[in-house]
Parts: sequence; C-alpha cells; structure tokens
Amino acid sequence: MAETSSELERYLQSTTKSKALWEEAKNYLPGGDSRNSIFWAPYPIFVDHASGCHVVDSDGVDRLDFIGTMTTLILGHSPKPVMDAVQIQLEKGVVYNAPNPLQTRLAKLLCERIPSFDLVRFTNSGTEATLNTIRAARAVTGKSKIAKVEGGYHGSHDQVSISVRVNPAKAGDRNRPEALAATEGLGEGMLEQVVVLPFNETKVSRQILEENKNELAAVIIEPMLGSVGMLPATTEFLAMLREFTADNGVILIFDEVISYRASMGGAQEYYGITPDLTSLGKIIGGGFSIGAFGGRKDIMDLYDPSAPGGPRVAHAGTFNANPVTMMAGAATLDQLTPEVYRKLAEMTEYLRASILKVGAELETPVQVTGLGSLFGIHFTSDELVGYRDIAAEDAAFRHQVFLGLLNEGILMASNLVGAVSTEIGEAEIDAFTAALRRVLERALTPSG
Ligand SMILES: Cc1ncc(COP(=O)(O)O)c(C=O)c1O
Repeated sequence: MAETSSELERYLQSTTKSKALWEEAKNYLPGGDSRNSIFWAPYPIFVDHASGCHVVDSDGVDRLDFIGTMTTLILGHSPKPVMDAVQIQLEKGVVYNAPNPLQTRLAKLLCERIPSFDLVRFTNSGTEATLNTIRAARAVTGKSKIAKVEGGYHGSHDQVSISVRVNPAKAGDRNRPEALAATEGLGEGMLEQVVVLPFNETKVSRQILEENKNELAAVIIEPMLGSVGMLPATTEFLAMLREFTADNGVILIFDEVISYRASMGGAQEYYGITPDLTSLGKIIGGGFSIGAFGGRKDIMDLYDPSAPGGPRVAHAGTFNANPVTMMAGAATLDQLTPEVYRKLAEMTEYLRASILKVGAELETPVQVTGLGSLFGIHFTSDELVGYRDIAAEDAAFRHQVFLGLLNEGILMASNLVGAVSTEIGEAEIDAFTAALRRVLERALTPSG
C-alpha cells in the first residue's frame, strides 16, 4: 500500500484543533461521539460552521461538502428560503401541545408527490419511521417475521439491526446469507424474526421468500442500498418482491430515507413499482430532525386516534410534526421542482462521467453507482451486484482516498458515498475531480 502514512500525516497536521476538541469530548461522550456513522479513524474533523456547499472545520479548513449530512441537505447548508420560513415560525413558537396546520401542508406535499401515499404520519427520525412500518405490517397481517436484504440499513432499532455491514467470512454462503446481529444487546429471539435475502439475486431470494411465506409480515428494502454504497436494485428484483408480497399477503415496505432523492416521487416513481408502505427521513425535514411513514389508507388507518375504540397501533412522540420541522420541510419541498431535479441529475451525471475519466486516465478501475443526485465511488472492475461485492473492496485503499480527499478540501461519507446539492455546480465538480486525481496519483505512486 503506497503512501498511507503521508495522507495520515497531512491529516494529523491540518486538524490539530479538531483533535483537541475530540480529546475533550472523550471525557464526556464515549469515543467523543454520539453518532457512530460519522466517526472515522483516527478522529473526525469538528465543524465550526457551514454555508451553501462549504463546511469549515475548527482549524479553519474550508471543504466542499459532497455528502450534505448523509444526503439530507439537498439545497445545501442554510438555504435562504428555508431559513426565512423557519425564522417566521420561530417567532410563533417552537413546539405546541396541539396539532398545527403546517403538518397538513407537508403531508399534502408528500401525498401529492409519492405514488403510494394515501396517508402519512411524522416521526423524528428514519429509525422511528421504519419501526412503525414494520409494526403496522405486523398488525395488519397478524404475522411476525420480516425479510430484509443483507447490507440493508434501516436505522438502529432491534428488528432491523441484523445483517447490515456483516463480515462476509462469518455470514455464510452469499446466496444463503445467515442472519447476524449488527450490534450487541439485541433482544432474545431477534435473529429468528428476520429472513435475510441476497440483494439483487432474484431467483434465490424468491426461493427463500417462498420457504418463509406463511410467517412473513413484511419485506423491507431500500430500492437502492444507500449508506452501504449507493447500489441500485434491479427492476427485476423489485418487481419480484412486489409480485411475491402481493400474492402472499405480505406487506412490501420501501425504505426511501435516502432513495427519496432519486426523483420527485422517490425511487418508487423512478422504478414504477408501488410499495404498500414507505419510510422517509432526511431531505423532507429541510435539515431538521424528521422521519415519516405512509402508504395504503387501510393500513395507515390503524393509527387513527378518532376511530371507534381508538388507534389499533400506538404512536406518539413529543416532537412529532413540530411546526419548525414541518415549516422547514415544506419550504424545502417547495424549492424542489421538476426543473431542480433535472438539474441535480444533470450535475451528478457530469460528476460521474468526470470521475470515470480520472480513473481511465490513471488506468485504475473505478465505478460510480447511484441514482439521481446520489453517488458512490467503487475502485474495482468486478461487477457490483450486492453487499458482498461492496464488502470485497479494498477498505484500506478506500480509507486512504477518503483521508486524501479531506486533505484536498473535499468532504464525503467515509465509505465514499456522496450527494450533490443544488449549491454544487460545474466549478465545484471540477474541483472535486481535480482533488480526486491528486489523491489517486499519490496513492498509486509507489513510495520510496
Ligand atoms: C435507508 C435508511 N433508513 C433509515 C435510516 C435511519 O434514519 P435516522 O438516522 O434518521 O434514524 C437511515 C439513516 O441513514 C437510512 O439510510
């Protein structure tokens, strides 16, 4: 491995204040951290402020933001129309012990845009959203097991903390993945509740589903594996899931917390496949904490508190549908017109093509995956079908590239997935590819 230490050295030299802040944080927070997904070795940068597509760390280093808080900030940091709207709401109060009309405004926008949404409910996170889709599926079917794909991330509650970023050596045959806990501390019997499918393997997944069909309440799937690598499902795979679930009284849940960015109606519109329930999060809160779940009226009606006898499925949350988040979300969606989606897709296509060009010129294998304004960089010429192919990539090399990009003024997720915001134009993309070229040139030059 060439020059690993020089990227690290450079990083250590330019992030001394972040390091000191991290050392201090460790006195009060385990590992100085509250969100494992944004920790990276040796320690992360600590952010001082951000604006548009720029993030400035505590050492004063200004970086271009090509991840936007794990894909959330589709309009960049602090977009004026959203901040102005939030300011108006802040003066009217932050959270009330009664409903507010803004929740209807955001709900209407979502129901108008997302093909499968008859009704929707708000939460504070994507985790709560997927939890509720699964609970609703269990309530409506009277069954308990769920199926998910290996590598699929659906938040941090017990039922989905299984077979996420598993070590392939411990997870059995790639076509018969074993259910593995993604964390210690899961409740007893959790593993038996989850049937694990190999992503994009239509035939074997159908076989596994058939074997479990009488016990399955739901199949939950990201139409594009998001945080694990931005790997889209094939239409054939999703169509099989739709057909199987419809034929067997199983609820099909699309987790679109990330993939909702794919188009105005989400990945379900892009693929033309309509799930029964969908979970959302990230962009729909305009930068404020949010989640949502919605879908078929007959299922969502289980939550109706005005139904005779009350709701069949309980759902509360102090900050659910709070007016600040609702205002920010609605103001964000107002900005997201078809023209904006077209421009985002065009810019991201330019980014993808530019990255491929760098790879070709340096004669190093590279693939760029993703949908809409989402992208993932993979340094391999092997076909990327499912999680195992992503897990087979050279993790040390990828980390070296990630640190190198930080050194060159680019912020991505530490596993090289990214998102393009409306603040990013050709000039920023050219800066990105020039940075990547320098990083790869250093990485590919034998040291010595
Ligand atoms: C596909 C998917 N589902 C669910 C979640 C959980 O969302 P949150 O972090 O808001 O709890 C995430 C978060 O990254 C996600 O990517």
